[in-house]
Amino acid sequence: MTSSQVIVKLCITIFFLIHYGPPASAQLSSTFYSSSCPKALSTIKSAVNSAVAKESRMGASLLRLHFHDCFVNGCDGSILLDDTANFTGEKTAAPNNNSVRGFDVVDTIKSNLESICPGVVSCADILAVAARDSVVALGGSTWSVLLGRRDSTTASLSAANSNIPSPFLNLSGLITAFTNKGFTTKEMVALSGSHTIGQARCTLFRSRIYNETNINTAYATSLKSKCPSSGGDNNLSPLDTTSPTTFDSAYYTNLINNKGLLHSDQQLYSGGSGSTDSQVKSYSSNSATFFTDFGNAMITMGNLSPLTGTSGQIRTNCRKVNSG
Ligand code: HEM
Ligand SMILES: *[C@@H]1O[C@H](CO)[C@@H](O)[C@H](O)[C@H]1NC(C)=O
Ligand SMILES: *[C@@H]1O[C@H](CO)[C@@H](O)[C@H](O)[C@H]1NC(C)=O
Ligand SMILES: *[C@@H]1O[C@H](CO)[C@@H](O)[C@H](O)[C@H]1NC(C)=O
Ligand SMILES: *[C@@H]1O[C@H](CO)[C@@H](O)[C@H](O)[C@H]1NC(C)=O
Repeated sequence: MTSSQVIVKLCITIFFLIHYGPPASAQLSSTFYSSSCPKALSTIKSAVNSAVAKESRMGASLLRLHFHDCFVNGCDGSILLDDTANFTGEKTAAPNNNSVRGFDVVDTIKSNLESICPGVVSCADILAVAARDSVVALGGSTWSVLLGRRDSTTASLSAANSNIPSPFLNLSGLITAFTNKGFTTKEMVALSGSHTIGQARCTLFRSRIYNETNINTAYATSLKSKCPSSGGDNNLSPLDTTSPTTFDSAYYTNLINNKGLLHSDQQLYSGGSGSTDSQVKSYSSNSATFFTDFGNAMITMGNLSPLTGTSGQIRTNCRKVNSG
C-alpha cells in the first residue's frame, strides 16, 4: 500500500470506530434530556432554589448526598433507597445514620419530574444536578453536569461503611480513600472545599477541640461551649466558621489559621510544610482556581461507575425499586 492508501484506510477505520464501534463504557452527556425532558434541568433548579431559600444548609446536605451516593458503588442513587423489612440499604450506615439529609427535597424534585416526563429522569441524575445547583445557589460557580445515569436496584450498607472516608483519618488515609476511587490528591483537596458550607455534629469533632494542639485556641474555646466534653453529641457547628452559608474559599483560609473543624479538615494543612499545604494556600488566596478545580473534580466524581444504557432502571420513587 502507498502511504496515502494507509491514511485513507486509517481514516475509514477511525470513522467506523467512532460511529459504530462498541463504546468502552457508555458516556454521560450534558444534553441527555434535551429532547426526552427539556424542562428537567429548570425543574430541578427551581426546587433546589426554593429549598435553599427556605434553609441554606439544605444546599450543603444535597451536595453531600451526591458524594455519599457516588462513593458507594458509583453514582446510582443507591443512597436514596429506604430500608424495608427485607432490605437494608445505606441510610443507616455509620457515615449516614442521623447525618445525611435532603431526602424530602429529592422526593419533591422527583414528583415534579414525574408529572412532566414520567419515567425519564433518574434519581442518580437528580442528585448530580441538585449538587451543582446547590453550590450555585450558595454563591459558588457553575459547571456542566453530565447526565444519563440510571438507578440501582440494590444498595450496600457495608460498602457505605467502608468507602466513605472517616473524619478521623490522617492525610495519608484521606489520600488512600480517594485514590481507591481514582482521584488524585489534588482532586481530594479540591473536593474537601465542600466543607465551606454545612455543619457537623459535636461527636465528630469533640476529640479535635479537647485533645488536639494544632487548633486555634479561641476557636477551640468557643466550640467547647457548644460541644461539651460529654453529652450534646448532636449539637451542630459550621464546618466553615467564617462564612458557613457561602460557597467560597474561606474553608482553606480557616485551615491556614488552624480553624479546621474536623480532624480530617486540618490534616490538609500543617503549618506550611505538608504536601498539600501549597494547594491550600493557593485556593485560600485565589478562589477562581478553587472553583475551576472543584467543578472539574465534581464532574470526575459524577463519572464514578454510572449505570447506563439498559443497566439499572429509572425509579419512579427514589426511595423504592420499581415493582414489577
Ligand atoms: C475528604 C474526606 C471527607 C470527610 C472525612 C468528610 C466528613 C464529613 C463529616 C464527618 C461531616 C459531618 C457529618 C455529621 O455531622 O453528621 C461532613 C459534612 C459535609 N460534607 Fe464531608 N467529608 C469529606 C469529603 C466531602 C466531599 C468530597 C464532599 C462533597 C463533594 C463533602 C460534603 C460535605 C457537606 C456539604 C457537609 C455538610 C452537610 C450538611 O450540613 O448537611 N464532604 N463531612
Ligand atoms: C418481604 O418479603 C416477603 C416474602 O417474600 C413479601 O411478602 C413482602 O411483601 C416483602 N416486604 C417488603 C416490604 O418488601
Ligand atoms: C441509627 O440511629 C438510630 C437513632 O439514633 C439508632 O437507633 C440506630 O441504632 C442507628 N443504626 C445503626 C445501624 O447504627
Ligand atoms: C495514618 O494513619 C494510619 C492508620 O491509622 C497509620 O498507620 C499511619 O501511621 C498514620 N500516618 C501518619 C503519617 O501519621
Ligand atoms: C482525649 O485523650 C485522652 C487520652 O488519650 C482520652 O482519654 C480522652 O477520652 C480524649 N478526650 C476526648 C474528648 O476525645
